[in-house]
Amino acid sequence: MLTVLDHSLIKHKLSIMRQEDTSTYIFKQNLDEIAKLMAYEVTRNVPIVEKQIKTPICETTGYELAEKIVLVPILRAGIGLVDGFRDIIPTAKIGHIGMYRDKNTLEPHEYYAKFPKDMDKSIVIITDPMLATGGSASAAITNIKKRGAKKIMLVCLVGVPEGVKRIEEDHPDVDITLAALDDHLNENGFIVPGLGDAGDRLFGTA
Ligand code: PRP
Repeated sequence: MLTVLDHSLIKHKLSIMRQEDTSTYIFKQNLDEIAKLMAYEVTRNVPIVEKQIKTPICETTGYELAEKIVLVPILRAGIGLVDGFRDIIPTAKIGHIGMYRDKNTLEPHEYYAKFPKDMDKSIVIITDPMLATGGSASAAITNIKKRGAKKIMLVCLVGVPEGVKRIEEDHPDVDITLAALDDHLNENGFIVPGLGDAGDRLFGTA
């Protein structure tokens, strides 16, 4: 299922990130802030269990998360969303999956993968600022499915219908959350209007 977050703060902050004259510092600052808002939204329905607690006044029924959460950023750019997510979900474990997209063929290539234990007992949230052709995210999901996961969510900042369609076809069981659904991919595989190459803008490697 696709969810596009409709939130004034996210629209405001994402517009700052899109602007070409936004510095690496301000780009990351706004990405951190959006990541927190996205973390809040995507964890809204994570299962909870009741737990008896004692306030200074009396005993009452409280709640705690019933599932472990694992964040999996797709390297490099997906790392940019991790700080914000960890601020909101400090107990989350972190896996990493390295993918780069061939500049000519746009095919994804995996170069690194390291995951925490108990993936099969966890809710896995994959992060990447960009969902372009969807090739990188689809390959990452395939890898994670081999290890098992109770549920997989894909959280991207900006996506296009082409990428959404690819994930919906390859992995119909994966929920996709975007901060914005952009128009299309250009001939170089870049999201239009997009925000350029998120990895380069985040790490200052443009
Ligand atoms: C970008 C982006 C995604 C991927 C999206 O990564 O961060 O991982 O491209 O494209 P796709 O949906 O067509 O697969 P890139 O390959 O530029 O690597 P980087 O994160 O190391 O910059």
